Amino acid sequence: MNDIAIVSAYEALIGNTPLVKLSTLSRLVGRSVYVKMESLNPGGTGKDRAALAMRRSKTGGLVVEGTSGSTGIALASLCQRRGHACVVVLPDDQASEKQRILEALGAETYVVSNAAIANPNHYVNVARRLAVRANELGTVRAVFIDQFENVSNFDTHYEQTGPELWRQCKNLDAFVMSSGTGGTIAGIGRFLKEKHVSVKVVLVDPPGSALYHKIQHGVAFANQQRERELKRHRYDTLAEGIGLDRVTNNLALGVDFIDSAIRVMDQEAVDMAHWLLANEGLWVGSSSAMNVVGAVRVALQLPSKSTIVTIICDAGQRHVTRFWNRDFILSRGLEWPGDCERIPGCIQNIEGSAAL
Ligand SMILES: Cc1ncc(COP(=O)(O)O)c(C=O)c1O
Repeated sequence: MNDIAIVSAYEALIGNTPLVKLSTLSRLVGRSVYVKMESLNPGGTGKDRAALAMRRSKTGGLVVEGTSGSTGIALASLCQRRGHACVVVLPDDQASEKQRILEALGAETYVVSNAAIANPNHYVNVARRLAVRANELGTVRAVFIDQFENVSNFDTHYEQTGPELWRQCKNLDAFVMSSGTGGTIAGIGRFLKEKHVSVKVVLVDPPGSALYHKIQHGVAFANQQRERELKRHRYDTLAEGIGLDRVTNNLALGVDFIDSAIRVMDQEAVDMAHWLLANEGLWVGSSSAMNVVGAVRVALQLPSKSTIVTIICDAGQRHVTRFWNRDFILSRGLEWPGDCERIPGCIQNIEGSAAL
């Protein structure tokens, strides 16, 4: 029996995502900018890869996870075939459509206030506690998937996504990616760096996340964390699924292979998302838009004709109530590009950009 026959259709569709060139953007910046379309995995994100590996790393009939949404959606999908129950704890600052999708997939969801990881009510801590409690009751064996610390997440990107990208593009000069759990940038970045030491691996970090400082200055810290300036418990960005206040086990496995970091502001991500839709026909979510801003910045630092790769993490469909909602964007003190024909700052001064 071949592999395809013993995995579910969902599992068989995971991976082998296309790598596509952003042709308008590449022409504009004079370098080849490619995106790996992780949004085309069956669950709509690269989390399908990590979820499958992490699920296989633990046995039990009740799957419990703390997630900003995408990993939960992947896990809930994987639970379908074996009829396993899935419980997902979400922070309250994510697009509500993710919770709706989880519920449609039969997952039990709990939404908790956003909090620092040291707070026992952080969504990851709540999920861990729920799994412990379920095991104490003893009716079903519960597994806490633990995507931030479970290194099967790193392993799958190191063993599969990285080699897959390398097969698709051996002449890349830079790989640019944001970090949620860190599994993607650490796994792909480390694989590429070990394969070809001159590839630059660059982290993209949203406002308020401590990882930019970790890479640039060796200490995990964000200016927003200064006393009296902290607006929220976690970090101040509308980007979903990226940015962190700690170095996870997954990120730790690749952190030494990251060359530098770039801070991308929310407005730049909004502008880039609208620009990509208008000029490349790609409808992307917030983390992907940040990644492309980072890719352009890195591209412009490299010699002409260089090749830069970043990741499209998910599509706009998961973001219609926040990132792709004009009222929400205005409520965050940002501008809606359609109102004022904004061009992303990173390409504003490039000759010809206004004509596009
Ligand atoms: C929406 C979204 N943003 C960001 C990421 C990057 O996540 P991580 O660093 O956890 O690998 C992912 C991964 O699939 C994602 O789905």
